[in-house]
Order: sequence, then structure tokens, then C-alpha cells
Amino acid sequence: MRLIAHISDLHFGMEDERIAEGLLEDIAGFHPSVVVISGDLTQRARKKQFLSAGAFIRKILVPCLVVPGNHDIPLYDVFRRTLTPLRRYRHYITADLNPVFQDDELMILGATTARAAAFKNGRISTAQIRDLAEKLCAAAGPLFKVLVTHHPFLPPRDDPYAALVGRGALAVGALEPCGIDLLLSGHFHRDYMGDLQSHYITVKRSILVAQAGTAISKRTRGDKNSYERIIIDQPDICFDRFAWDGRRFAKTMTTRYKKVNGAWQHFPRDIHETK
Ligand SMILES: [Fe+2]
Ligand SMILES: [Fe+2]
Repeated sequence: MRLIAHISDLHFGMEDERIAEGLLEDIAGFHPSVVVISGDLTQRARKKQFLSAGAFIRKILVPCLVVPGNHDIPLYDVFRRTLTPLRRYRHYITADLNPVFQDDELMILGATTARAAAFKNGRISTAQIRDLAEKLCAAAGPLFKVLVTHHPFLPPRDDPYAALVGRGALAVGALEPCGIDLLLSGHFHRDYMGDLQSHYITVKRSILVAQAGTAISKRTRGDKNSYERIIIDQPDICFDRFAWDGRRFAKTMTTRYKKVNGAWQHFPRDIHETK
């Protein structure tokens, strides 16, 4: 059994300090196997914002897998944006833009999709797709395999034409034969879930998608700040969503899936917590 905490879109510079403290307390309390941070660590990729983001991450005492988002590339500083777009991210957070977490049950791969030329959108390169497929296909044993990107592969149900990660279909086609199980992303500041097959008609493998909302930023776009705890206990997987209620992160929904004959089945139903 493995526990993942999936947090996203921290946007230091626009963070709510009280919520940030509450999130750190939560993470320390339930002690996940790994914390996944799917990008937009800062609001404007400024040094002070990266220092705050780095200090926050260092307070997490379990392994963290981090990828940058479009906000981690300077927007208005054209010189930095063009010549050294991720320099501050690499200096203050991590130089590894395609990180890997692996133990004997879990393999998590991160891929940087933020691109200076794409502004708020993002894409995955053919070289990254090749590299991800090689790593996933080479992994031995019955590992649960996860890909983390900032930009999403699946749109929200009420916004089917939302801009997704560029070359997403190409990536999915290359990764599905290697047994990818779950995609984790952020960017839209909305939390929702689904099966990739609902959007990519050519995909034969049942692949779950979990989108995180914004964990601690004031840029909530109407939704509450939230994060997810993911419990992987094959063939079962459980997603617990925790949302900030003004005082603490409270569980607001539990979504369970079971893998039956190779397909993730929603089981038995979403459980909405009443608080
Ligand atoms: Fe964001
Ligand atoms: Fe973003």
C-alpha cells in the first residue's frame, strides 16, 4: 500500500500563509510515501517567490517529486524568459526537470511541460515521450505507474475544449503499452477525475486522471483550496479530496476505483462527506 499527497499550483507570491501552514501540518500528520507537486510553485517566477517555495518544500520531511508550471517561467522579463526560462526553478527548487520516484510498489515519473514559447500552455517533447516510454517499459515487476505533468491530459467535463498539453495524444499512445496507470496534473485550478478513455477514443488502456485544484493560492477561480490523498492498494485505488473550510483541510469527497479485467471501475460510488 502506498500513499501519495498530490498538491498543485502553490503560486507563492499569492499564497495564503495560514492555508500553507495547515497543509504542512496535514502532510506531517498522515505521512505519505511521497508528495507530488504538479507545478506553478510561484506566481511570477521571482527569486523571493522561489525562496518561499523552496522553504515550504524543505519543511516536507518525506520524498517530494516536483515539476514546474508555466508560472515558474518569467512572463514579463523577456530576456530571462527567452534565454534562461527555468534557471531560477533549477537553482532554487531542483535541477531535475524529469524527476523519478521509485520503490518496490510505485513508479512516478515527472515531465516538464512548461515552455517559454507556449506562454500559459504547455507541451511534451518527442524526446521526453521516448524517455518516459523507455523508463516505464523497462520497469520490472507489478509497479503502479504514474506520470506527473503540470498541463492536463483531460479537460473538465463542463469545458471540453480547454487547452490540453501539446502532443498529449502522442504521449498517451506511446505510454499505454508500457502500463501507465494514473496521470496527475494541475494548471486549471480545478479538481476533477476521470478515465482518459472518455476523451481519447483511440486509447485501449483504462488510465485514470486526477486533476488537483490549487492548494494554497488565493487564485482559486471560485473553488476552495484543496489537495488529494491517493491510497494505492492494488487492485484498489482511493482518492480522498481535502478542501480548506476556513480553519482546516476537511475531507469533502472520496472516490474509489477497482481494477477489474484491466479496466478501472468506479466502485461503488463517490462518497460526499457532510460536514
Ligand atoms: Fe496555476
Ligand atoms: Fe499553470
